[in-house]
Amino acid sequence: MSTSSSSSSSSSSTGASAAAGGVTVPPASLTRSAVRRTSSLNSVIVHDLRLKLGSRDVKRPVLNGVDLQVRRGSLHMLLGPNGCGKSTLLKVLGGLLVPDSGLIDADQPSGFVFQNPDHQVVMPTVAADVAFGLGRYELTEEEVAAAVRSSLRLVNMEDFMYRATHTLSGGQRQRVAIAGALAEDPKLLLLDELTTFLDREDQFGVLGAVKNITSQRKDVTAIWVTHRFEELQFADAASYMENGRVVFTGTPDEAKAYMRKLGAPV
Ligand SMILES: Nc1ncnc2c1ncn2[C@@H]1O[C@H](COP(=O)(O)OP(=O)(O)OP(=O)(O)O)[C@@H](O)[C@H]1O
Ligand SMILES: [Mg+2]
Repeated sequence: MSTSSSSSSSSSSTGASAAAGGVTVPPASLTRSAVRRTSSLNSVIVHDLRLKLGSRDVKRPVLNGVDLQVRRGSLHMLLGPNGCGKSTLLKVLGGLLVPDSGLIDADQPSGFVFQNPDHQVVMPTVAADVAFGLGRYELTEEEVAAAVRSSLRLVNMEDFMYRATHTLSGGQRQRVAIAGALAEDPKLLLLDELTTFLDREDQFGVLGAVKNITSQRKDVTAIWVTHRFEELQFADAASYMENGRVVFTGTPDEAKAYMRKLGAPV
């Protein structure tokens, strides 16, 4: 099962629900071909993005002027200390939160996958789970089956199509969750700490699956939030956030050097 979003993406009027941590339900009229791309080689262009969160009386700045560009078709990693705004930025990019100001131009639609696969893989079989989100589109049975199969193939889980989801490992469940997002044909995958609960084998299985997606589908971009530095070797580029801003963007090696200077054990 997946969370997808296809809200408009210009400046502060993204038109999505502003409920923090909430999930935007796409309008019933949505079609799977409702694709929108930025006009450049970048899948994401963000400039001076600002957002305060909190109660009506006590709001505090969470995004403090984010600037970010992400190449289309890349696997772009986003790192930074707890509370620096990574998840909030992903939610804004996916249209789940509306910024107070700034510019966003991002390929659409987007698909989210979160940290805990147990919250996202809920159907009894792999095929049913991946097909779940397709229920809102007018698709034939054959079209659904084809979308499910090709999505599972991209995450190397085709052989598990008829398996019961409760028999899968954490990493296999994450790959099923990613396939669920992929089935809806997103152009931007927003992946928030998918490997936190995984052992090393599952961790690299999931990373390899995402790398495979961006290698095979040049029109799909993945933004991968992580705290695990060893994952950088899979990235095409990486950004580091601090206090609600992106303070560094570069190659994985440059990112490692940057973080080493900050004293991180990279
Ligand atoms: N709905 C909210 N209301 C008030 N503050 C919020 C809300 N959501 C997030 N915050 C605050 O915004 C800051 C950034 O949160 P966010 O979850 O984006 O950080 P993060 O970089 O993803 O952290 P982590 O690495 O721990 O996941 C934190 O201080 C958090 O407490
Ligand atoms: Mg987070």
